[in-house]
Amino acid sequence: MFLRLFAITCLCACATFSLAPDKVFTHIIKTRSIDLNNAHGLAMENRLGRNVVPTGYYLELEPYIEDGVYEGRVVINVTWNTETDEINLHCAPDVAIVNSKVELFGESGKSQEIAITQIDTDAKKSTLKFQLEKSVPASSIGALDLSFKGKMETSTSEGLFKSSYKTDQDEERIVVATQFRPNNARRMFPCFDEPEFKVPFDVSIVRPLGMIALSNMAISRVENITDEPNAELVHFKRSPPMSTFTMGFVLADLVQLGNSIQYSDKTSNNFEMRVWGRPEYLEALQEVPDKFIRILNEIAEFNWPPLPLDKLDIVALPNYQGVKPTDNWGLIVFRESDLSSSGHIQLTHEVLHQWLGALVTPAWWSDAHVNKALVGYLAVETAYKINRGCEMEVKWPMTFLYSLYYEYSKRYPHSRITGMKQETVSTKIELLFRMFNYTLGDETLKKGLKMFVTQRAFQTFDGDFLWQSLNTAASEAGNSQKIDVKAIAQSWIEKDRLPVVTVKRNYDSKTAVVSQKLYLRERPHDVPDAGRMSWWIPLVVVRGDNLDFNSTAPLAWMKDQTLELNNMPSKEHFIIVNPEEIGPFPVNYDEDNWNLIAEFLKTERRTKIPELTRAKVLHDAWNLAFAGELSFATALNMTLFLKHEENLPVWDPVFTMIDHIDRHIWDIRDKFNAYVISLLRPPYIKLTKDIDENEKSWRRNMRNLFKTFLCSAGYKPCIKDAQEQYSKWMKAQNPDEGNPVSDRYLCPVFRWGTQEEWNFGLQRVINFPPSRKQSERTYLLKTLSGCCEDKYKLTRLLNITLLEENGNFTERDIFLINNMFSDEPVGHTTLLHFIDDNWNIIKQKYYHRTNLWSHLISTATSYFTTKAGLDLVTQLYVKHQGEFGPAEHIIEKAIRNIKEESKWSSQNLPVMEKWLDDYLERNGVKVEKKY
Ligand SMILES: *[C@@H]1O[C@H](CO)[C@@H](O)[C@H](O)[C@H]1NC(C)=O
Ligand SMILES: *[C@@H]1O[C@H](CO)[C@@H](O)[C@H](O)[C@H]1NC(C)=O
Ligand SMILES: *[C@@H]1O[C@H](CO)[C@@H](O)[C@H](O)[C@H]1NC(C)=O
Ligand SMILES: *[C@@H]1O[C@H](CO)[C@@H](O)[C@H](O)[C@H]1NC(C)=O
Ligand SMILES: *[C@@H]1O[C@H](CO)[C@@H](O)[C@H](O)[C@H]1NC(C)=O
Ligand SMILES: *[C@@H]1O[C@H](CO)[C@@H](O)[C@H](O)[C@H]1NC(C)=O
Repeated sequence: MFLRLFAITCLCACATFSLAPDKVFTHIIKTRSIDLNNAHGLAMENRLGRNVVPTGYYLELEPYIEDGVYEGRVVINVTWNTETDEINLHCAPDVAIVNSKVELFGESGKSQEIAITQIDTDAKKSTLKFQLEKSVPASSIGALDLSFKGKMETSTSEGLFKSSYKTDQDEERIVVATQFRPNNARRMFPCFDEPEFKVPFDVSIVRPLGMIALSNMAISRVENITDEPNAELVHFKRSPPMSTFTMGFVLADLVQLGNSIQYSDKTSNNFEMRVWGRPEYLEALQEVPDKFIRILNEIAEFNWPPLPLDKLDIVALPNYQGVKPTDNWGLIVFRESDLSSSGHIQLTHEVLHQWLGALVTPAWWSDAHVNKALVGYLAVETAYKINRGCEMEVKWPMTFLYSLYYEYSKRYPHSRITGMKQETVSTKIELLFRMFNYTLGDETLKKGLKMFVTQRAFQTFDGDFLWQSLNTAASEAGNSQKIDVKAIAQSWIEKDRLPVVTVKRNYDSKTAVVSQKLYLRERPHDVPDAGRMSWWIPLVVVRGDNLDFNSTAPLAWMKDQTLELNNMPSKEHFIIVNPEEIGPFPVNYDEDNWNLIAEFLKTERRTKIPELTRAKVLHDAWNLAFAGELSFATALNMTLFLKHEENLPVWDPVFTMIDHIDRHIWDIRDKFNAYVISLLRPPYIKLTKDIDENEKSWRRNMRNLFKTFLCSAGYKPCIKDAQEQYSKWMKAQNPDEGNPVSDRYLCPVFRWGTQEEWNFGLQRVINFPPSRKQSERTYLLKTLSGCCEDKYKLTRLLNITLLEENGNFTERDIFLINNMFSDEPVGHTTLLHFIDDNWNIIKQKYYHRTNLWSHLISTATSYFTTKAGLDLVTQLYVKHQGEFGPAEHIIEKAIRNIKEESKWSSQNLPVMEKWLDDYLERNGVKVEKKY
């Protein structure tokens, strides 16, 4: 279970073992925020009518910072599209309208006021409706003049918020700023808060002297305010037409880093670039200007229209709490650590938003995921170029692609975390851009995107428009295969599923029959309509007799269930379909082709196949075996080259495999562990040589990863090391005062160590003083129960916790122990026997604590995978049928699932065991029986 922590690794194409620089393991969550979940809800929002629409804003705001409130006035120029006597717009219920007036502009420049007879507010929808005394004819123009007041947010960094921080001299400083994405402008002022209304803004803000005021545009003039000697009114230049969510400002005690830079490039961008931060933080921002220049230069290669801005401010805002930076047009606001962190990807995201989001804007929230996906794809592409592929803060695209494979091949994708669904869709679309980059060619993609940005500048777009632009570019480039980009994209986007492609070669006729079907990994494979699903699939083929990974144009696009490829190589040579994961789908082959690949990988020429493709064939093979589509012997054959493999990305699928497979191979675990050790030991030993102080962190991370997996497979030196460390604790005078042993040594000791060592740990939990950090106790208890494979010890733990109830263990502890047992076959087997042996007393104690009872029964019965397990659970069920109460359906469901799993086990375990036997014998590995 500890292994999962390490599933995130990184990728670099540069050199052997040359994974990216620091921070590789930490960035993933941040660059993928939960933005979209929100957007999904928004897609349901009622739209405002289009009868009266805005054409410009004058916005004046005066914050009363001490009190955390503000007053403001907004004059919204409007046009009547249709004759009507009402005006609808957004305004959050917390914003109070103090004064309101509607004016019509006459021809002669004279204006005429129209009385408002009623104002209706809808708090739930955050809207306002102004009822006018009479209808106003279509084509009239006028203005809505509103004074309002409200409170600043203090608990979040959304809307108009206020927060504070301490300087190095321990003085408190205050920040007032905005974050309006996706629809928070209405929380500050009444407005037409939909992305489609893109109009100019004249912004004026009262600034307390001593603070800087930044907004989308540069300052045009500053005015004194009568009666307020300590403040002035700052007017900003009129903005280009923009959506409300890209408007923003910052009031803070910041200073500028160095001088402004006048940025210009060949695409006629020409603006002043300024970087801001607290004085104490400027040092950490030294590299920021150069980074932005490099990013902007790279974006200039896309040949997009220039940004219509006179300046771009980049701000490191102290104590900014937003999940993502605020990408106002012309004013990007970062968390301090995000702006100073290494790498370019996240910064590139925000810069790209100046074009994709601000200049061209998704028409509605349902189109936002296409925008997000495009930004995601281009950010990686750009960062790639800047670092020549040597910076990968995330292992792109593997980490995301693999998680798509796992999620979409479940029986019920997204059944557990529905919020992830939108996020996954966006990831998938990002991968489609990557697919089009390879299949249409990068020049065509670039051309299509340029067309798209140029045509939609200052406007909005929906997803279709983007695909059509790519299609036009493809047509102009020839499009000999007559593909329809939109139809292709749609076939992948419309279903939360992915295909698996199967290639069966005929070696005599040099042909191959390719077929597609729904990819299902989790059993049983009983998805309704599976037979009717199909995708537009690019068949890019690399052949062993002409290893060319440069030509990535597909031999064919396949939409039907099957297709035949001709002119395949002769029988000595393998083929690889979908190299480099060009399309997001796994590929299966006939056994001979798999073995041809496996044999080639064992030769020195292996590196002629790029690492991502090496990882792919390995990852596909074992996942297909897991799915029941391929013999495990063939899949295991694919791992044999790893002894010589030195690139972590290629190892990554192996770590995941070991992790996923652990529970299923329990009956042959000794042999499997021996095999794992023989596979991992040589590269690990290599990594333990020549360690010096300047060692790169990727190397250290990689060594730790190998070590963790070796330890959990029972690698002797690891256990010895852990026991040595642990003995310090056992020898301590007062062991309950604190634990001198690093957490990572605990699991190996409890798993492979002595009874005495385990008992000592248990005693520490029992004696744990309330004064110490309880999380340490929790960790100890977790490892004691989760890293133990000894029935006797576990029975003892259950005796103490479930039966004795001596006050040392809480209900929470019992839940925790149960959770640990679910992953460990010895754990849940012991629990099942324990419940069976002590049925009456356990039932009497726990039956009425419904949650706990269900959890106990679920843990004891749900996780078996073999026939023997099925028998155990069935026996318990038969013996006590009708007595399980609320848990009755849990055990019934468990029995159904185990039946499926055990079918798989009885088919696969003997095959694996035979393969392992052969392997271990051939390699002279002795298996120690540890259990
Ligand atoms: C609003 O309309 C008035 C009158 O036509 C005009 O002077 C002003 O510039 C407009 N403001 C904006 C922001 O468009
Ligand atoms: C604003 O006030 C300051 C100090 O009172 C004065 O020096 C300055 O000239 C004033 N500016 C304007 C534009 O009136
Ligand atoms: C896009 O395709 C080109 C080859 O056509 C390739 O060199 C480049 O790495 C691809 N970009 C990404 C981000 O995959
Ligand atoms: C592929 O492209 C790389 C870089 O452009 C080049 O060095 C290599 O020779 C090419 N390989 C083939 C098989 O064309
Ligand atoms: C595994 O590879 C060996 C050669 O190393 C081959 O003889 C054997 O047939 C392969 N097994 C399967 C099931 O593909
Ligand atoms: C658990 O308790 C039972 C009876 O209460 C006892 O017979 C058994 O020996 C205990 N087992 C362990 C491992 O302590």
